[in-house]
Amino acid sequence: MSSHGAVAEIGLIGLGTMGGNLALNIAENGFQIAVYNRTTEKTDQFITKAGDLSAKLVPSKTLADFVASIKTPRAVILMVPAGEAVDAQIEALRPLLDPQDLIIDAGNANYHDTNRRAKEADEKGPRFLGIGVSGGEEGARFGPSIMGGGANDAWGQVGHILEAISAKYEGEPCAAHLGEAGAGHLVKTVHNGIEYADMQMIAEVYGVMRDGFGMSAQEIGAVFEDWNGGILQSYLIEISSKVAKTADPESGAPMLDIILDRAGQKGTGRWTAIEALMLGTPASTIEAAVAVRNMSSRLDERKTGETAFGAAPQPMDRSLVRINALEAALVAGKIVCYAQGFDLILEAAKQYGWAMPLPKIAKIWRNGCIIRSAMLNDMSSALADDDARNLMLAPFFSAKLKETEGSLRQVVAQAALHGLPVPALSAALSYFDIMRTARSTANMLQGQRDFFGAHGFERTDKDGGGFHGPWAMG
Ligand code: 6PG
Repeated sequence: MSSHGAVAEIGLIGLGTMGGNLALNIAENGFQIAVYNRTTEKTDQFITKAGDLSAKLVPSKTLADFVASIKTPRAVILMVPAGEAVDAQIEALRPLLDPQDLIIDAGNANYHDTNRRAKEADEKGPRFLGIGVSGGEEGARFGPSIMGGGANDAWGQVGHILEAISAKYEGEPCAAHLGEAGAGHLVKTVHNGIEYADMQMIAEVYGVMRDGFGMSAQEIGAVFEDWNGGILQSYLIEISSKVAKTADPESGAPMLDIILDRAGQKGTGRWTAIEALMLGTPASTIEAAVAVRNMSSRLDERKTGETAFGAAPQPMDRSLVRINALEAALVAGKIVCYAQGFDLILEAAKQYGWAMPLPKIAKIWRNGCIIRSAMLNDMSSALADDDARNLMLAPFFSAKLKETEGSLRQVVAQAALHGLPVPALSAALSYFDIMRTARSTANMLQGQRDFFGAHGFERTDKDGGGFHGPWAMG
């Protein structure tokens, strides 16, 4: 038995940076929280560093004591690495918990795993909630965006705590229950796919300014700072400005000139692209962003390529693309990327029968998370008007696209002519062009399919399908 008795309102396992910060956030919001880490030294260090907040923390050295220190029905947040560690932790907890207790996986889980765990929980207990938590270390400590998935009653048990610790937008909590089982983790995955695309498009305009215009990191940082005061106001533009303006303390050179151009990834952006392909929804801007991260890791091959073909980027006369055209291109790219992301969420919702209130998702992304931006407020209004309509067609965003599409086209065209890669922006432009073209070129694909495989096609002048061309014998 725990020496404390059952005093804690909630428990948390995994005192790494994210878990530790989340526990402090919960404590600071007035909730007594039980904490446990596999290595006791980490728990001890955590309690020592917590200062005054340690009064709200209930540490335990064993899992059994940890469980005993939580009031029933218990709620236990897992903040352990996604994947097998989560399953192992659930297995270890199951014999210690009652069926009506609740396990909450707050890691970056693959939503298919969350679906499986929710099913296992229904069969064997205890209950299960999968929550996507965004906002990095600072968000976890001072207010993340929280995307919940699971049964209504499971959310009902802890929703007040999750709302209390979440970021607020004009007083409204950036935490919500979005649907059953893996719904929260699916939304977090798409959040990260959008995060990848948003970051990539910013990197692309950075490339035009750096390699095309020959601007210094400081100058580029000032441009981003300026944009952050306008329609592009967002956390990612803000930090891009700060990254660009920062100097390396060791060499004095701009940090951006010291950081190796090989991007890491933990997988959630890739899952978004995989999911889009599996569900048959076009998420080409996000897919392009994932592909570029993969290409970035091919550093040696890129060096060999440069030796073989010469470096691609060529200086560009600034009169060909104005700085405000780069800003407008980003606006257009961003609208397309979110249209793709929301479309993907809607398709998944249909497939699984999840509620997935899109306006609410846009609302809880307005603060706390990595993709928070001013535009998300307009997106939540547009989705509240009609959530089944492509976001590009909402009056506010179609007007914005009409204003900015010329700039997107000009940036993509001039970048291509000057060897400046803009794959995510180009993908956004092609999506926009295809989605506004009633007569596409897929008739050629259907002709080819029928020619080599007698797959049949529909005709423009007759109802029904299964028609064939006169080439079968040919
Ligand atoms: C967030 C982030 C976070 C993510 C990191 C790293 O919303 O707080 O999305 O969950 O893990 O940003 O992601 P990558 O390593 O895949 O870039």
